[in-house]
Amino acid sequence: MSNFSLLIVDWYRLNKRNLPWRNSSNPYFIWLSEIILQQTRVDQGTSYYLKFIKNYPTILDLANANEQDILNDWQGLGYYSRARNLHFSAKLIRDEYKGQFPDNFKEIIKLKGVGQYTASAIASFAFNESKAVVDGNVYRLLSRVFDINTPIDSTKGSKDFQELADQLIDPLNPAEHNQAIMEVGAIVCTPKSPCCPSCPLNTICLAKQNNTILKRPIKQGKIKVRDRYFHYLVFDKNGRLFIEKRTEKGIWQNMYQFPLIETTSMEVDLGKELNELKTSESTTTKHILSHQRIHTVFHHFNGFPAKKGNSWIEIDRKDIQDYPIPRVIDRYLENQVNF
Ligand code: ADE
Repeated sequence: MSNFSLLIVDWYRLNKRNLPWRNSSNPYFIWLSEIILQQTRVDQGTSYYLKFIKNYPTILDLANANEQDILNDWQGLGYYSRARNLHFSAKLIRDEYKGQFPDNFKEIIKLKGVGQYTASAIASFAFNESKAVVDGNVYRLLSRVFDINTPIDSTKGSKDFQELADQLIDPLNPAEHNQAIMEVGAIVCTPKSPCCPSCPLNTICLAKQNNTILKRPIKQGKIKVRDRYFHYLVFDKNGRLFIEKRTEKGIWQNMYQFPLIETTSMEVDLGKELNELKTSESTTTKHILSHQRIHTVFHHFNGFPAKKGNSWIEIDRKDIQDYPIPRVIDRYLENQVNF
């Protein structure tokens, strides 16, 4: 067992946060928590986790649920494909695995939406398999303790850091080791103001010795971000309005939205009829996703146009919350006195 593992596990036993999924070795609960925590911080993710295990206490409950309910419960977390992948995998486990969650890394990683990190987390936390987790916290911590300047978002980086993490894990205590390394990364070795005096690794940390802590980790950062311009059409006729289901692949699939015109710049030509019906428009807001920046404007119309779109559904304004809607629309509605 390495000194590294002893140091972090001793610290973890004294300092760990009491998080609900940590009291369980149920692979379904662990899977849920890890997928939720992929896109949100622990303080926000906890309430979603508790809601999911309450509404879907077993993997069969999740498999048998309908997608609209799952998307509604997921609302606010974003990345809805993750909720859909959860549902897909739950049905697969029900139908192909006799309802039994796969019990080893090689099988777990085959599940849709489960990558190296999540498979390692489930395999180690639920089945004590010796697979090292490497998430953002672990990249940062390792790049500092070993003062590594390989970009973490390069092919070489992901290979090197995984190998290093695999060397450090205690094969006799993989679950606790993995929780501990993530916890030190999340609580002590934080991005901007790490708390080195209370770090269990401060005696061996090379970045501390070399004064490079805030320069680690290195990212090459080549993700291209695409700008998209969404013009939502809010037709209001005495409290009735139109929504449509977003069927195209990509963001927010199967969620509901106001009829949408997507353009390649902020400019939009609504045409004569709509310009005459139009009363106002919202300010432009930007919604940042990992690979896209969505610029949104809501155009308000008093009344319905002569011809409605094929896919439009007429609803009562107050019923809109019954439909799964993207966070941008939800946030817009929160600011409208009429909704
Ligand atoms: N972030 C991702 N997974 C986590 C876990 N199991 N505990 C705490 N934070 C996490």
